[in-house]
Amino acid sequence: MATVISNQQVAQGVFRLSAQGRFSGKMGQFYMLRAGERYPLLSRPISIFDLAEDRIDFLYLVAGEGTALLSRLKPGDALALDGPFGNGFPELAGKTAFVGGGIGIAPFFYALKEAPEADVYLGFSREAYMVEEFRQAAGGPVVVDVGGSILDKLDFHAYDTIIACGPHPMLHAVQRMQAEAGSRAKVYVSLENRMACGIGACLVCSVKCRDGRKKACADGPVFLAEEVVFE
Ligand code: FES
Repeated sequence: MATVISNQQVAQGVFRLSAQGRFSGKMGQFYMLRAGERYPLLSRPISIFDLAEDRIDFLYLVAGEGTALLSRLKPGDALALDGPFGNGFPELAGKTAFVGGGIGIAPFFYALKEAPEADVYLGFSREAYMVEEFRQAAGGPVVVDVGGSILDKLDFHAYDTIIACGPHPMLHAVQRMQAEAGSRAKVYVSLENRMACGIGACLVCSVKCRDGRKKACADGPVFLAEEVVFE
């Protein structure tokens, strides 16, 4: 249980939630969050957006009942959270690009603390948000697209490692474009699957992979792009 410090709307339906406490986690991992009373069905997996000694921040999109309840939290309210869960990002080798679509930008802010030299690509369908914060945190370029495809601005040959997070159609396009480009980059996708338990017990987050079904929460959420079978 943690205490909410702030819960600010940064764009339509997008909130930045800060909670007080000592938490841990590596880049690309997530916590299961719920507002107030224990009610596991309403726990939602939310990536670590930022982490400091006495505080953890999450960036989330209101997409259902669980996140709507989160959006009503006020400073001083209790936030129930478990984690960190998931495998997180791999070790980053060589020139790296972080590619986020929509709320999929969230894990890269924290990742910039470990890899400030990474190039950042942020794509939004209607409204950009947190771009200034990313520009301040990044040591390299921050490329932004609103209304088009951020992937059109990405040269798959320019990087050794690419990590993408966003909706499945975008990640599927990443997989396709890597194959078409014949890029030798290691390309990873961080999946935004629905989850219930977050610990590998319920199978809600099942992912079809070339070597069978895996669990986004326990085996992922980060997979090699070529490993995933997008349906
Ligand atoms: Fe339950 Fe992944 S969320 S197994």
